[in-house]
Amino acid sequence: MVYSRLARRLRDLGLKEFSAYLRYLESDPNSEEWQSFTNALTTNLTAFFREAHHFPVLAEHAKKCPQPVTVWCSAASTGEEPYSIAMTLIEALGARASAACVVATDIDTQVLAKGVAGVFTTEQVSKLSPERLKRFFLRGSGAHAGKVRIRPEVAAMVQFSRLNLLDPKWALKEPFDAIFCRNVMIYFDKPTQGKILQRFAPLMKPHGLLFAGHSENFSFANQTFRLRGQTTYELVSNRTKAAA
Ligand SMILES: C[S@@+](CC[C@H](N)C(=O)[O-])C[C@H]1O[C@@H](n2cnc3c(N)ncnc32)[C@H](O)[C@@H]1O
Repeated sequence: MVYSRLARRLRDLGLKEFSAYLRYLESDPNSEEWQSFTNALTTNLTAFFREAHHFPVLAEHAKKCPQPVTVWCSAASTGEEPYSIAMTLIEALGARASAACVVATDIDTQVLAKGVAGVFTTEQVSKLSPERLKRFFLRGSGAHAGKVRIRPEVAAMVQFSRLNLLDPKWALKEPFDAIFCRNVMIYFDKPTQGKILQRFAPLMKPHGLLFAGHSENFSFANQTFRLRGQTTYELVSNRTKAAA
């Protein structure tokens, strides 16, 4: 997999050997090629309302949160996940959702650019209900036939930026009512996952929710996050910790 993904970079750069690519990268620590190298290696599989059981939980949570609601989508990929969050907030909060903010970050700049563009194929939105399609998307015509664009009012709620979860500092405007960290922790070992979870806690509002991917289990960090069910975790409040 790594071979075929990097082979494309070599072809684009006209290099014949991996050792030459390595030398090219290492010759300049500030080279833009480092980002292309990272982009080539990421796996970006995502979908609208993927792991759909999380979205009604978010909707109920958002209704109880003090406004405006803020959500961090920490591995946003091409935008389907943060836009699903924004659509959920609109359905749950109505007009109040326009003040809500979804911070959508990812390490991969190429997928972030797709998220910002907000253009998807009709195949990518084929599982959405006709109501959601009509309410949240503009249908392309002419040269744009077969494509849809997320409506500006939904796009306005989502702010995309690059963030590496492994960086020692994160440029974020917290606190968040919820953090989506789905299908990215699988790439990190347990100690790294633990460190990231510890860094999530102070970024969350009391009783904030953390959504994990279907194959991810954060129960080992139960001093900080308590499992609510179906890979949804609740921040353990300081009062609960003191009582324990
Ligand atoms: C499999 S996709 C999951 C997308 C989405 N969260 C979902 O569940 O549908 C994993 C995403 O994590 C991103 N990623 C990988 N390593 C990362 C890191 N260190 N920091 C931030 N994002 C990362 C990848 O670029 C990719 O877009």
